[in-house]
Amino acid sequence: MSPGTNVVIALAISSIVIVVISFRNKLVYRQRRELHGCEVPPSLPQLDPVFGLDLILSRFTSLKADRRNVSLLEQFRRHGNTFQSITFGRTTFFTIEPRNLQSVLSTDFLSWGVEPMRLFAFEPFIGKGIMCSDGAFWEHSRALIKPTFARTQIADLHLDDFGVHVERLIDLIPKDGSTFDLQPLFARLALDSSTEFLFGESVQTLAPDLTPSSAESFLEAYDYGQSCVGRRIQLPKFNFLTTDSRFWKSCQTAHEFVDQQIQKALLVTSKQKQDVDGRSRYILAQELLRQTHNLLDIRHQLLNIFLPAHEAIGVAMTNIFFNLARHPRIYTKLRNEILVADLKARTLTFERLKSLKYLQFVINETFRLNPTIGTNTRMALKDTILPTGGGPSGHGTSPILVRKGDSVVFGFYGLHRMPNVFGDDVDVFRPERWEKLRPAHWSYLPFGGGFRVCPGQQLALTEIGYCLVRMVQAFERVENRDPTMEFVEHYKITTESKNGAKVAMVPSHL
Ligand code: HEM
Repeated sequence: MSPGTNVVIALAISSIVIVVISFRNKLVYRQRRELHGCEVPPSLPQLDPVFGLDLILSRFTSLKADRRNVSLLEQFRRHGNTFQSITFGRTTFFTIEPRNLQSVLSTDFLSWGVEPMRLFAFEPFIGKGIMCSDGAFWEHSRALIKPTFARTQIADLHLDDFGVHVERLIDLIPKDGSTFDLQPLFARLALDSSTEFLFGESVQTLAPDLTPSSAESFLEAYDYGQSCVGRRIQLPKFNFLTTDSRFWKSCQTAHEFVDQQIQKALLVTSKQKQDVDGRSRYILAQELLRQTHNLLDIRHQLLNIFLPAHEAIGVAMTNIFFNLARHPRIYTKLRNEILVADLKARTLTFERLKSLKYLQFVINETFRLNPTIGTNTRMALKDTILPTGGGPSGHGTSPILVRKGDSVVFGFYGLHRMPNVFGDDVDVFRPERWEKLRPAHWSYLPFGGGFRVCPGQQLALTEIGYCLVRMVQAFERVENRDPTMEFVEHYKITTESKNGAKVAMVPSHL
């Protein structure tokens, strides 16, 4: 036989094998679907139902147009609480059904993971650690930080340090009624506080005349690097579109800066630090050193924790003031509660802040309307089942069969706008709704849920409450100075306000 004939035979055999395997897979899939009573949820209309190019493009367009959460919400409202689409040739399920969230994040936790999606996007920037691993490596990562975050007093002890940064922030706010943006100030607060907590030394971007230039370039590099990571996650197969030489340079700058901070922290033992300051402090780098002597692991874990820690409270504080500036009545009501309570900064604790009901309502309502993390995704590590949402209506209750490699996207933004849970006025900022509201489990998840729930939740809520109290004590009024009234989102892993929070603040003594 000629070589040409051999090639034809080989091609024919391969094609037959592919057809047989795909037919067999379809049959097995159908049998399993019937066995478990599964149904398929509605599909998004797609021009390219094989690879999903049109959807990938429209996703990229809404990302560029700063409408990522909003367009997903529109799809939930149009197609129901659970629907599916094809992206990169794989099925992605979108859901805001609390039972599905509970299953993926808790009861069927082991069937789902993040590593296949995140590691590739994150690794050049932060290395392998808690944010981008699954299985044994994730368990090891979580166990490393558990002893620190499990201590209930960690947030309160950290407040001594945090208070210094908040006072600096208040000093920097214009007192003459001029317009300014709170967003960059809150971003610096989050950075100053998180570097102190993680590395033992704050970058002090809020300190007068102290701002080291390396911290400025680090901030800039980190900001750019993170927005690229966000795009790398969105479009994993199109990295030529989402990364450039500035990304790699940003990774390098961020690494050098963080490595330098870690080296400094490693030189100081916790005991020495306590003696110098005459008080106990928690410094994560040193706490990790108690757990392991693997310095590379510590570096990666710190970089991983720095990612969610370094800006989340800045985004949350900006969003709170974005809303307060547009609702003067709510600001006055909050201020009354705080003034009546006659709080001294040094007596503020997690528990004391919890007892301020209206303060908690304002925080809850901001996290509901503008969740810092608007969506989250998991990939099926094996064939499994979503408990509900199957059927053509989008509100069906049949289980859904999921194949290994398929993904599920939860829309926290959409979840927090479910009228059956939060009322008919879901798009309105109304803290009072929390007087009666007790959202059912898995209906309100600003800090995620289940085994990967945010370990920094208590720390973040304490810092946010503390900062809010001090700001409201210091300023009688906050005036909106932004002609755009609606919240325009900007996605970069967290979802921040694209227009910041442009305000004028009227100091208390006037
Ligand atoms: C407003 C503040 C914050 C919000 C809204 C927030 C939200 C979240 C959410 C939704 C997750 C779950 C991600 C997932 O399921 O994949 C998460 C995870 C995480 N957060 Fe936070 N976070 C905040 C602050 C912090 C702080 C201050 C720290 C650390 C000091 C922190 C450390 C982490 C870590 C390490 C994880 C990963 C946990 C894991 O995968 O096991 N977060 N956060």
